Amino acid sequence: MSTKAVVEQAVPVHQDPDILAAAQRMAGEDLCSISDLSASEVRAILKLGHDIKRNPREYGHALDAKQMVLMFEKTSLRTRLAFETGINTMGGNAIFVDQTNQPLGERETLADVARNLERWVDVIVLRTYAHDTITGMAANSRVPVINALSDFEHPCQALADFMALEEHFGSVAGLNFVYVGDGNNVAHSLMLAGAQLGVNVTVATPRGYSPEIEIVTEAREMAAANGGEIRLMQDPHAAAENADAIYTDVCVSMGMEHESTKRAPIFRPFQVNEALMAKAKPNAVFMHCLPARRNEEVTDAVMDSPQSIVFDQAENRLHAQKALLLLLLDGLKNVKAFNS
Ligand code: CP
Ligand code: NVA
Repeated sequence: MSTKAVVEQAVPVHQDPDILAAAQRMAGEDLCSISDLSASEVRAILKLGHDIKRNPREYGHALDAKQMVLMFEKTSLRTRLAFETGINTMGGNAIFVDQTNQPLGERETLADVARNLERWVDVIVLRTYAHDTITGMAANSRVPVINALSDFEHPCQALADFMALEEHFGSVAGLNFVYVGDGNNVAHSLMLAGAQLGVNVTVATPRGYSPEIEIVTEAREMAAANGGEIRLMQDPHAAAENADAIYTDVCVSMGMEHESTKRAPIFRPFQVNEALMAKAKPNAVFMHCLPARRNEEVTDAVMDSPQSIVFDQAENRLHAQKALLLLLLDGLKNVKAFNS
């Protein structure tokens, strides 16, 4: 399914009220959670992301000489490379620190690490186990901190995912978005971002694996304000009925490997296969944050089908993260259209 709608931009990006307000409010701030963003700011990141994707050269010097450090306690392909190529293609530089063998805060306190980093770099990007490591760094650092995945949330993923859905469907408000699988970090950020965008989000998980109640409560409040709905279910086939998009993730996230044997039979009925996709609308898309465990949570037939937009999602990690960096690092003032 390669048809992509052109995402309509009602006014030029440099006159867009969502983008102009976001540029003012977000400069110097952190992104620990999707709930750090208003509905207008989520829209702003997506609109800016689409423009960066269309006109990357316009942003080629927006972050000249800016320094980014990435400190990752877990492995990464997409998030790391999207941030590194993202800042490099806007004139900045990335420094990667592998923390997979030494959790942050072990060698010296998190606060002391923060007080060092802020003297050298302009932005700190963290991938951690504990979400508190991200909020702790943010509380102690004068430069922006970005959550590149914690056990609790994966905000950069959700932003790119809704960009991909906008490309596919033209707009996302009112879409029936169905997440099937573990109520994990990715599910949490999708619920919050979907709620801010007026999407109807259904999350189908095995009993005992539902999303955290605080996320459900917050997402329901946001959904009520934006015209969407958040539903929790335990039957993946009932959830998939009438879906515009079916999304899944691994059933064993990084750090949960010790539960693999226990989880495998529990999650088997939640596999996204052709029978499950057949319950959705005929033009529904399949989504996955990747990496996928092929023929576990999703079959090859679905992953490689024309309905699959998984690589569009991966591509948009770059553009959404560039948009986020521009807003947090006040980079739009260096972009000609915004400055004239
Ligand atoms: N989806 C995602 O975050 O991929 P990586 O773990 O490869 O960064
Ligand atoms: N839920 C997965 C997402 C990986 C991008 C994990 O945390 O491992």
